[in-house]
Amino acid sequence: MQIMSVVGARPQFVKLAPMARALAGRCDHVVVHTGQHYDAAMSDVFFDELDIPRPDEHLDVGSAPHGAQTGRMLEALEGVLERRRPDAVLVYGDTNSTLAATLAAVKLGIPVAHLEAGLRSFNRSMPEEHNRVMTDHAADLCLAPTTGAVEHLRAEGLGDRTVLVGDVMTDVLFAVRDRDRSLRAEEARIASSASLAPTSPYVLATLHRPANTDDPERLGDVLDGLEAVGRSGRTVLLLAHPRLRARACSSGVALDRPGVVVAPPVGYPELVDLLGGADGVVTDSGGLQKEAFLLRRPCVTVRSDTEWPETVTLGWNELVGDRPVEMAERLAGLTCPQTDATPYGDGRAATRAVDAMLARFGG
Ligand code: UD1
Repeated sequence: MQIMSVVGARPQFVKLAPMARALAGRCDHVVVHTGQHYDAAMSDVFFDELDIPRPDEHLDVGSAPHGAQTGRMLEALEGVLERRRPDAVLVYGDTNSTLAATLAAVKLGIPVAHLEAGLRSFNRSMPEEHNRVMTDHAADLCLAPTTGAVEHLRAEGLGDRTVLVGDVMTDVLFAVRDRDRSLRAEEARIASSASLAPTSPYVLATLHRPANTDDPERLGDVLDGLEAVGRSGRTVLLLAHPRLRARACSSGVALDRPGVVVAPPVGYPELVDLLGGADGVVTDSGGLQKEAFLLRRPCVTVRSDTEWPETVTLGWNELVGDRPVEMAERLAGLTCPQTDATPYGDGRAATRAVDAMLARFGG
């Protein structure tokens, strides 16, 4: 049996790592990279550091407006699928690569499994919300990371094709966290030639959502908020996504500010190290909110909604999308009650996902 994984953007490479490991030896696994992310720091570094097999096909679609980008992927993927004829296609998360692969496969009658199915922000202005809803409804197998995701799928009439497997991000985070520390330090050194971690207490920050970067007034408010965090006694280490740099430059909003250190994006082991050493997190990333919770780091999320509500209800994450300038006070005010709750699974989600795929698609 052949399963084809289609990935294209940074968080998908991280999720591919435990899936590739769990699929190895159980079926023929083909990896297709759409090329949505192409900078070495956004793509190659993950394959190198997480020991992911090199993609069997690379489509090189690159950046473009959403319609053009999705359309180019759809056309290129159709050719690959017709040539390779996999028994099932595995898609990850909620990016344009996810939607394109799903559409290409279902139109050729090839079954689709969706990993990270059932998440909902209920924010219809986010492209990811449409990508995940459309993917879930087209998929033959919805692999849900949380009980909340299962409830969403049931409410939408998709319960009979849903399996709760847990979250593969937990698998990869725990595996990397538990690797030998000196090995990780060496990997980080090779990746960036010097540790980025400030020697004083610091808050780790990432920003990349268009809702925060693309309007100069909003971007100014968010960066004023970060500057206030930096002035409150903890350095802000801002890992700047290419879009953030580009928009800050074109709108004349300064990223370099007192108390804020700007650095390039990092690979995954280095991110885990930096997160482990941080006093807190400011982000608009879905993955980092959850990783902060899993390593028990207080987090404020620069959005008004989240696909990971458990981080908020358990008291470790607060949504500050309405008033980003207040993020310093809101981060300081988080109570972060101790908890042994495991809403994101036990670190064995990838094996369950493979079991579910082989059971559904035959193996
Ligand atoms: C995409 C996903 C988002 C995910 C994020 C992780 C969609 C709709 N969005 O957003 O869900 O959280 O990936 O990072 O699929 N760029 C580069 N180099 C690269 C990649 C991008 O310079 O390697 C720049 C380009 O200017 C590009 C912009 O970043 O136009 C945005 O990239 P894109 O892939 O469209 O979306 P992301 O914002 O990265």
